[in-house]
Amino acid sequence: MSYNFIRQFILEGRPESLKILPLPYGVNDLAPAISKATIDYHYEHLAKTYAKRFNAGEGDPDFNEAGVFLHNILFQQYQEPKDSNEPTGAVAEMITKHYKTFAKFKEEFEKVAMAVQGSGWVYLSKDGTIKTITNHAIKKDIVVLVDWWEHAWALDYQSEKKSYLKNQWKIINWDHINEQSAI
Ligand SMILES: [Fe+2]
Repeated sequence: MSYNFIRQFILEGRPESLKILPLPYGVNDLAPAISKATIDYHYEHLAKTYAKRFNAGEGDPDFNEAGVFLHNILFQQYQEPKDSNEPTGAVAEMITKHYKTFAKFKEEFEKVAMAVQGSGWVYLSKDGTIKTITNHAIKKDIVVLVDWWEHAWALDYQSEKKSYLKNQWKIINWDHINEQSAI
C-alpha cells in the first residue's frame, strides 16, 4: 500500500487529502523494540495528526504532508521482532556492495544518526549512502527509514538512542523493503 502511496505522489503531485495507512501488524506486535504505548502515541496520535492538520488546512502544509509521507513509509516497513533479522534480496546485495557486511552498515548508520542534531530522520538511500532529513521532508530515494525524532524513542528508551537503533534492525521487514524499493 505504501508503494501505491508513493507512486501516487510521484505521478499526481500533492493530493487533496492524506491519510496514515493502517498498520500491517497488531499494536503489540513490535514490542519490545517498540512498545504499544509508543505505537499509541507515535502512530495513533502524532502521525495521524499530521494528516488531520493537512486535511484541515492547519499549519504548514509542506511540513504536514512530509510528516504523513515519512510515517507511511516508516510504519509499513516493520514486522514482529526477530533476533536474527538479516537483510534479504536486492537490499542485502546493496548493503554488501557498499558496506561489505551488515554489521559494518549498522555501525555506519549509527555514526550518521548520532551526529544528527535536533529532530530528524536517517535513511539508507537508493544510491547506497546513508542520508539524514532535518525535521520532515519528502524524499524519493528512501530504502530503509529510521525516525530519529525524540518521540520515536524517548518513551521506550529514555536517552538510550543507540539501543533504540539496535532494536530497529530486529523489526525491519526486509522482504517488504525489497518489494517497495526499486533498488
Ligand atoms: Fe515520528
